[in-house]
Amino acid sequence: MGRGFFLALEGIDGSGKTTQARLLAVSLLQQGREVVLTREPSDGEAGQKLRRYLQGPGRNLSPREELDLFLADRREHVERVIKPGLAAGRIVITDRYYYSTMAYQGALGLDPGEILAANEAFAPCPDLVFLLILPVPQALARLRRPRQVSELAPYLERVAAIYDTLEGPRIQKVDAGATSQALHATLLAATVAALEKVEGGESQATR
Ligand code: TYD
Repeated sequence: MGRGFFLALEGIDGSGKTTQARLLAVSLLQQGREVVLTREPSDGEAGQKLRRYLQGPGRNLSPREELDLFLADRREHVERVIKPGLAAGRIVITDRYYYSTMAYQGALGLDPGEILAANEAFAPCPDLVFLLILPVPQALARLRRPRQVSELAPYLERVAAIYDTLEGPRIQKVDAGATSQALHATLLAATVAALEKVEGGESQATR
């Protein structure tokens, strides 16, 4: 059995991650691959609590308290969904992961590098990360329920600036301004290429 493949989609609100995660899962399933599609905040207990908080009237927790909640949810998500999926040799696709915490809680004033290090201490590193790039005004225009847009825009600009600092061989920054189908074709091709590289490596027993 393979070791599985771990893919994360990241980007600001309205960048199209959720649509792309679903399209990727469907296409990979159609190719006969085993896929787990998941998201953060997760569907576990801590994640549901977080979603209620985020959809509530105001963000009244301190940045540090928010960070602790996202970390608690991630610990649960890693143990309950991500590690078992990878151990079963599946492709695990997550709609948001710890780069979201780095960018969103970092944009509230916490140190992005420290947030990343705290996550990397317990959470598996993805094989591939798609960072969907879209200018904030375009992303806000796509949101169905633009919540307090005047406050959201400067916040998302700070989030985008932190995302922009991400670099590395596993990080692929993709222009999310393309049509959904064109973007999907790009992401699918890049995913299949990365999968084939891993599968080739495995047959040479290098992983
Ligand atoms: P999102 O994926 O946009 O959920 P929905 O599809 O319900 O709109 O995520 C909800 C919000 O949570 C989003 O604004 C980003 C925020 N978030 C953080 O602030 N930190 C994190 O670590 C994660 C995973 C999400």
